[in-house]
Amino acid sequence: MTTEAFFTKPALTPEREAFYARLGEKSTAPLWEVLGKLVSPQPRPDARPVLWRYDELRPLLMEAGRLLTADEAERRVLVLENPGLVGRSQATGSLYAGLQLILPGEIARCHRHVASALRFIIEGRGAYTTVEGERTSMSPGDFILTPSWTYHDHGNPGDEPVVWLDGLDVPIVNLFDTSFAGHAAAGPPPVEEGAAAARFGANMLPIDYSPSSAASPVFVYPYARSRDVLDRMSRSGPVHRCHGVKMRFVNPVTGGYAMPTIAGFIQLLPTGFAGDAYRATDATVYNVVEGRGRTRVGDATFDWGPKDIFVVPSWSTVAHEAHEDSVLFSMSDRPAQQALNLWREEAPVR
Ligand SMILES: [Fe+2]
Repeated sequence: MTTEAFFTKPALTPEREAFYARLGEKSTAPLWEVLGKLVSPQPRPDARPVLWRYDELRPLLMEAGRLLTADEAERRVLVLENPGLVGRSQATGSLYAGLQLILPGEIARCHRHVASALRFIIEGRGAYTTVEGERTSMSPGDFILTPSWTYHDHGNPGDEPVVWLDGLDVPIVNLFDTSFAGHAAAGPPPVEEGAAAARFGANMLPIDYSPSSAASPVFVYPYARSRDVLDRMSRSGPVHRCHGVKMRFVNPVTGGYAMPTIAGFIQLLPTGFAGDAYRATDATVYNVVEGRGRTRVGDATFDWGPKDIFVVPSWSTVAHEAHEDSVLFSMSDRPAQQALNLWREEAPVR
């Protein structure tokens, strides 16, 4: 694939410059001055490779817990803001990511928004998320959805702080100017815990079920089950030369991704794994669940341990190594790119 400039700008002369200024007065602009930037021969993301060490962020998150109540903050979250996207509340060009803290005794009140959200639990037990009236308890490694326009709240009746990674498609929703949000006057009626998993997560569907949304009706994917799958697959193989053992969380009704705009993945890199380089157009946020290792992202090298978070921008090469059995959760906008016929990958990158 060519990486040459698609187009070079014509020389700027005083006469042309004066002409461009007159164009600007009429809300027009010369395409030839911006064409090379608009239509690049390959992705040119503003997002940069970045690693957030959890042991550096955790004290700041706890400090936020002392300074603001969950009620005051609506959601007490440290936005993971990519240093290439300062002021934009984005981890990548299309995704928001944040670390949310809920302290014992707190409740984050019920609301809903068009933006789809996923949670990946990082630390603590005893808290819950409620989605459309159904409560699910949260444990480290659990993957939880709050699909577009579903009412949700969080609470922590336990005795330890609970922290999770939030991933939202806010930049996509705002690209289209389609954001709506509101609080619940009265939340949806309570539903028995486990009802969605029983109805939709046991390789059966209610006889007359017809999906009302592209999002998975199963909204919790417990880590105990994901981990067991990874363990069994790493023993039976094959282990992919770039990804190790990598699974995607699916909507069991369609076999598609769990939500239409954001995908969740979980992968196991066995001890000693030294993966080949790979790249794809979906910028990806990784969270280390277990283990220690090293990932090369373009020219950057990140040594990571449990709970650390890092970003691989669009079309950056990524190559993982594992010093011990390691599990990585990751999220990206791959479903949206694939739905729009935009997604590309190269594996391995030579
Ligand atoms: Fe929310």
